[in-house]
Amino acid sequence: MDIVVLISGSGTNLQAIIEAIEAGHIQGRIAAVISNRPQAKGLTRARNHGIETLILDHTGYGTREAFDADLLQAIEQYQPGLVVLAGFMRILTDHFVDHFTGRMLNIHPSLLPKYKGLNTHQRVLDAGESQHGCSVHFVSSELDSGAVIGQSKVNIARNDTAQSLSQKVQQQEHTLYPACVALFCDHQIHLTPDGVQYQGSILPDNGLDLTED
Ligand code: GAR
Repeated sequence: MDIVVLISGSGTNLQAIIEAIEAGHIQGRIAAVISNRPQAKGLTRARNHGIETLILDHTGYGTREAFDADLLQAIEQYQPGLVVLAGFMRILTDHFVDHFTGRMLNIHPSLLPKYKGLNTHQRVLDAGESQHGCSVHFVSSELDSGAVIGQSKVNIARNDTAQSLSQKVQQQEHTLYPACVALFCDHQIHLTPDGVQYQGSILPDNGLDLTED
C-alpha cells in the first residue's frame, strides 16, 4: 500500500514507521513525506532513507481552505491508500477530512477521549492522573475525536514532569503507530459508521490495548 506521511516537526514517529517498513513489519511503502514547515527535521529523516519529500509552507496561504486544497492535490498525486499524520500540527478543514475519511490516521499524546488538544502532559499531571498514554485514531472532522484503533499506556510516577512524561509517551508512540499502520495495510481494520471493525467485531471506544512492556 502506498502511504503519504504529513509532518510538521521532528518526525520521530515517521522514523519509527520507516524502520518498521524496512524491517518488513508493514506491508506498505512511503510514497512521499509532506511538511508544512520547511525546517522540519523529519524531512532530513525521509531523505536519508531515499523517500521523496515535499514542502507546502502554510504561511504562504491566505486561508486554511486554500492551503488544504493544495495539500489535498499534493497528496492525491501519489494516490495513497493511507495518509498518516505524524506530528502534523494543523487543524484541517472538513472538506479535506471528508475526502480522506477511512484512510487517514493520527497519533495523539493522550488516552482519548481524555485530554484532546495541546499540552496534554502538563494537563494530565495537573489533574493528578495515575496513567497517561497515546492513541492512534481515524481522523474525523472534530479535533482528536475519530474512532480509536489502539492505545498504549504509561504509569505516572510521583516525580514525573511534563518532559519525562513526554519521553515515556513518545517511546510508546514509536511501537503503537507502526503497529496500527501495519494493521491498516494488512486490511485488518476498517472504519465503519459504528466504529473500527477488527476481526469481525467493532472495537471498544479505547481501541486495542497495544501497550509495550
Ligand atoms: C507526537 O508526540 C504526537 O503525539 C504529537 O506530536 C508529536 C510529534 O512528534 N501530536 C500531537 O500532539 C497532535 N495533536 P514527532 O514529530 O517526533 O513524531
